[in-house]
Amino acid sequence: MIIAIDGPAASGKGTLGKRLAGHYGLRHLDTGLLYRAVAKAVLDAGGPLTDPVGAVRAARALDPSRLDDRTLKSRQVGDAASVVSAIPDVRAVLLAFQRSFGRAPPGAVLDGRDIGTVIFPDADVKVFVTAAPEIRARRRTLELLAGGTPVEEPEVLADILRRDERDSGRAASPLRRASDAHLLDTTHLDIDAAFRAAIDIVEAVRAGRRRG
Ligand code: DC
Repeated sequence: MIIAIDGPAASGKGTLGKRLAGHYGLRHLDTGLLYRAVAKAVLDAGGPLTDPVGAVRAARALDPSRLDDRTLKSRQVGDAASVVSAIPDVRAVLLAFQRSFGRAPPGAVLDGRDIGTVIFPDADVKVFVTAAPEIRARRRTLELLAGGTPVEEPEVLADILRRDERDSGRAASPLRRASDAHLLDTTHLDIDAAFRAAIDIVEAVRAGRRRG
């Protein structure tokens, strides 16, 4: 089974993806980490983020076994990832890895921006997770503070709005809800309630398929 989860920055799709994968015995790939790793490599090399040559080189050299580097989670790297991810050739290099990850048994949950639209348009279940920007900013601020990064909520909200605009406005695989994706708005849900709602979606899709 392949479950595609898409949604804007800080919508909670990563946490949901991880929990769904654990529940169904699937592997999980947070595809944002791929773009973050490419962005960090470009930043570390001192290159401009908008230069396709350096970014594609970094994408080709990506080591997927090193995606647990905590520095990938920083605000600066997230913002840079949103810039390199608009380069079509970077997306093309990362596409094959994402497809082979998802197709390997027993299947996987992948979360990102274009999983249900481009990477796995035939995914068994597609969920589009969203929440009001102010709520996403509050959750991300608490997460950063808990991790020891001092931040102000208005700055985080500004980051989120800028990234939403970039990720939705770009020409290459923009963030959008696939027509057959189920909408999960977590504005008024905590993580446990969001998880239960996601399970309900997956089970309803499976039951519908069994009925044929
Ligand atoms: O999900 P995230 O915040 O870790 O993603 C970081 C950036 O990577 C995001 O702003 C846009 C880009 N991204 C993308 O273009 N496509 C994906 N499938 C995942 C992330």
